[in-house]
Amino acid sequence: MADDDQKWKFLPNVQELAAAGRDEVPSRYVVSDHDRPTSTVASDDVTDPIPVVDLNRLSSGAADEAAKLRSALQNWGIFVAVGHGIEPALLGEMMAVTREFFKLPLEEKQQYINLEGGKKEYKLESYGSNMDLSETQVLDWCDRFYLTMEPECQRLEDLWPTQPPSFRDVLHRYTTRCRKLADGVLREVAKVAGLREERYLADMLDEKAVSYVGFNFFPRCPRPDKVLGFRAHSDGSMLTILLANAAGLQVPRDGQWYDVPLVPGALVVNLGDMGEVVTNGLLKSAVHKVVANAERERVSVAAFYTVDPEREVEPALELVSDERPRRYKKMKNSDYIRELLESLARGERSIDRVKI
Ligand code: OGA
Ligand code: NI
Repeated sequence: MADDDQKWKFLPNVQELAAAGRDEVPSRYVVSDHDRPTSTVASDDVTDPIPVVDLNRLSSGAADEAAKLRSALQNWGIFVAVGHGIEPALLGEMMAVTREFFKLPLEEKQQYINLEGGKKEYKLESYGSNMDLSETQVLDWCDRFYLTMEPECQRLEDLWPTQPPSFRDVLHRYTTRCRKLADGVLREVAKVAGLREERYLADMLDEKAVSYVGFNFFPRCPRPDKVLGFRAHSDGSMLTILLANAAGLQVPRDGQWYDVPLVPGALVVNLGDMGEVVTNGLLKSAVHKVVANAERERVSVAAFYTVDPEREVEPALELVSDERPRRYKKMKNSDYIRELLESLARGERSIDRVKI
């Protein structure tokens, strides 16, 4: 096999790099001065901090929770979800099996590199690194693994880890609960967006919609001032549900990055680009990044709910008016996602390309 065919396979494994115990990071991880993490501001320092929304109260019609959700999605595109109904024990199991997976010896994890017969194009569903387009692209201080969850017939069972033994069962139980949660949250999101049909967004996650789970491992980093755990981006999803064991996630507002608070037992929910497009920009897809950390390793599990790849996505007609003209072009979701992955590698946002 030509070297080129396996190029991305041999992107450095960050966990191995970190284990080597050097004081410095390789130059490919060093971000430009402009992208360097700055000392962060706790989000409580602004007058309307990133809200903590109680989904249980929200679903029982509490107007103050709906107001928090509206403010969260208009201003930040992201919120901390409590009262979500997923037991702490299940969240703990999900974190534990993810961590155990990443702690397997490298050779074992390499079984889950998906080269599909040696094809050289980047495969999202694989153990490895974020997409790398060129020799000069700055790399993220993180290893990651992706699996397709839905439609179930599209699962690549061969890529489902057999170690730790409970991985599959825990993942199945966790994502079954997240799927219900996404449905409930999207109904509330439709209401705050002013859509007449409460199920408008939830119904876009039909039987052909694709959901993925991304597992991210951010090893301790000797120079967190010089790198990023995960570069700034927005997700291509309608909605993303994130579980993490440590702080590090940040979102920008007015030129400043803010920490997303880490609340024990909570999940973080953000709107992705499809949510912004369909609501004609009334609600925001959150740009976010992860900073690295010298003290502790960080593990996260992100469940992405995306629409049918064949679906043409555009703003809901009822949210387009003379006062608020259509802000985004119509696009096929699969084209959008492909574009998004390439934009991510270039450090750009694909949503900017569909803005009118
Ligand atoms: C992602 C992502 C954030 C995190 O996987 O798209 O933004 O906290 N992850 O791991
Ligand atoms: Ni993301």
